Amino acid sequence: MVDRLRPILGERKGREAYSSLSGEGKVRMGLNENMLVNKFFSDTILAEATKRVDAREYPPPKGWTAARTIAESMGIWEDEVLIGNGSDEVLDLIAKVFLSSEGREAIVVDPTFEMYKFYTSIAGGRTKQVLATGDFDLSAESVLSAVDDSTKVIFICSPNNPTGKQFNRDEILRIVEESGRVIVLDEAYADFAPYSLSGECTEYENLLVLRTFSKAFGMAGLRAGYCLGNARLLEWLKAAQSPFSVNSIAQEMVRLVLENKKVYESFIRQVVEERNYLTAELEMLSGVDPYESDANFILFRLPKGIDSGEVVRRLGECGLDVRDRGSLPLLENCVRVTVSTRENNLKFIEMLRGTMGDLA
Ligand SMILES: Cc1ncc(COP(=O)(O)O)c(C=O)c1O
Repeated sequence: MVDRLRPILGERKGREAYSSLSGEGKVRMGLNENMLVNKFFSDTILAEATKRVDAREYPPPKGWTAARTIAESMGIWEDEVLIGNGSDEVLDLIAKVFLSSEGREAIVVDPTFEMYKFYTSIAGGRTKQVLATGDFDLSAESVLSAVDDSTKVIFICSPNNPTGKQFNRDEILRIVEESGRVIVLDEAYADFAPYSLSGECTEYENLLVLRTFSKAFGMAGLRAGYCLGNARLLEWLKAAQSPFSVNSIAQEMVRLVLENKKVYESFIRQVVEERNYLTAELEMLSGVDPYESDANFILFRLPKGIDSGEVVRRLGECGLDVRDRGSLPLLENCVRVTVSTRENNLKFIEMLRGTMGDLA
């Protein structure tokens, strides 16, 4: 295990090892949190959730309260839902259960969310990379032709992080139907996109759909994500889960958030409006090429000669956190920025314009 961790930690130590994840004290536009969820509203329901909880008691085991609420809201059975301490915990469980023996392999469609590789490698499995097409689409043909005897899981992120693109549903379903493998469809950003396959997850024996309360519902700090799918598959994951991993306040918040879904839908609409605004502003910067997004972030390419790593470093020094994605396949010189409030979006555009001017 120590050997598996060494390449991840390298020489970095303590807080420093995770500084790129902190966003501490900065304008937070690097982690795809949702700052358009009204703070007063969020605080009010958080206070109500806290009131309903007795902190001396362990939480309902296996996220039972939250799982029941989600099942009821979707009209499915409770055993078709697994709730985790963020969808990160669900990814960790998937890797532990399906990918922990030597020689077991997961396919990832790159560029994509890096945690699929992380959890697979910690569990002891391997990942095989299939590249997205030049315009960041999913090719079912390429994925299916990469499947072999060692393939156990195929991770598909749609809308994809960091490109923001939601893949064509027929391409995804073709992989589900023809691969004969466990498909993990990570829909962390589907609330901002035209469609979701979560309604169809129980129709297929091999499809697991991941959703989260961290993004659209502004609950990143409380940690609640979930997986929908075939009860038999989920039973394996639940068996490997620690009983009290989802805290009581997060479970009550899930209940309150779903009771107030209409209000959250209005916050989601604001994200989409701001996304359009920010894309248009980026398009107006000379040489900058933003990609159309179905998520709450935008990927854009900087003009040749202006280095994405240097731009992100300078913005960070000025107190604004965005993500350099330039080292990922197909993403040379690309940066990912989270859609935020109008004030933050304007601040970002001004700072980016200034930084590009200094570097030109
Ligand atoms: C694609 C994707 N999946 C999962 C996650 C993890 O979300 P959670 O906060 O539910 O652990 C993220 C977070 O950035 C993400 O981008």
